[in-house]
Amino acid sequence: MEKRRDITASRKLDHLRICLERNIERGRTGFSDVRLVHDALPECDLNFINPGTEFLGHTLSSPLFIAAMTGGHPETKEVNRTLARVADEAGIGMGVGSQRAALENPALADTFSVVREEAPRAFLVANIGAIQIRDYGLEWAEKAVEMIEADALAVHLNFLQEAIQPEGDHDARGCFDAIEELCREFRVPVIVKETGSGISRVTAEACWRAGAGAIDVGGWGGTNWAAIEGLRSGNKGTGERPPLSRVFEDWGIPTVVSLCEVAGTGGPVIATGGVRTGLDMAKAIALGADLCGVALPLLSPAMKGEQELSGIIHAFVQELRVAMFLSGAKTPTALRQKKPYITGITRQMLCNNGGK
Ligand SMILES: Cc1cc2nc3c(=O)[nH]c(=O)nc-3n(C[C@H](O)[C@H](O)[C@H](O)COP(=O)(O)O)c2cc1C
Repeated sequence: MEKRRDITASRKLDHLRICLERNIERGRTGFSDVRLVHDALPECDLNFINPGTEFLGHTLSSPLFIAAMTGGHPETKEVNRTLARVADEAGIGMGVGSQRAALENPALADTFSVVREEAPRAFLVANIGAIQIRDYGLEWAEKAVEMIEADALAVHLNFLQEAIQPEGDHDARGCFDAIEELCREFRVPVIVKETGSGISRVTAEACWRAGAGAIDVGGWGGTNWAAIEGLRSGNKGTGERPPLSRVFEDWGIPTVVSLCEVAGTGGPVIATGGVRTGLDMAKAIALGADLCGVALPLLSPAMKGEQELSGIIHAFVQELRVAMFLSGAKTPTALRQKKPYITGITRQMLCNNGGK
């Protein structure tokens, strides 16, 4: 157990460093295939555009959500502190990274609990892998939520990453049943969350039936875990063959396709995966997203400090407000009524799959 817990913690640090130092984005989200309809006479005042929204019973100043990234190594505590302070001040929600390392080694719990200390009012989401839910059940779920006094628990799905890691868990059996049991018995809403490969309509429908409180589509086109794992392992192929990681950089459902398949099939939806501007956020909301998760673009600013991070978050929200203004939508609810144009390969994929 001791060896395994050290591996979990140091892997988290490897991931962080690779994300900061290397290009780990791959693919196409599909946002460039989406065009909001310009309203040449919008009948609203940009100064009074209100991006405020409700999510799982919480009032948020905007639909921007700081997606799960970190914690679990002593060096990550300050990053979480900065993210939490800024989330609290901005009135937005935030997820922490997988809490597995702190559940294996309670000495690391402060790298997560700092988040609730610094963000007493914020909507906070705990995080644990589906495999840990299968193997350790409600007990770990409860500990993860307690650790940060979370308002919801994200159960992350990362079987692409597990399949590529030589030391990964390659047996996914029993995870769905474990999630179903958790949803039935747990005291806070469970968010089923992909981490970069997207969620299909069929999987989403199964998750709603199982009792999921929300789905985070975590689609393809942004942070790419095949690329990260490839860089971590030195991208070694065998003979003439490219490494497994390289082949599977191209695997996943693009964020926009996944969002269109999942939105409207059950409960609230978070659009995460390659959301890079407030205009992407506006497009996601028009396609049915309730929140928009952003991870990678916030990492380097969070390392630099609160001012830097606040600046980026402010820019995202301002871009969203301008897009809402130019669409003639005073609120996210109004924006959701504005059907955007969908072109190109995204349209083709949606037609193939019977999406909207
Ligand atoms: C450095 C880093 C660490 C991450 N760690 C986790 C994690 O522990 N748990 C999780 O559910 N998602 C994790 N993610 C995935 C993000 O929450 C998000 O789903 C994904 O990065 C796509 O968003 P992006 O393209 O904006 O980065 C991590 C992402 C990054 C960049």
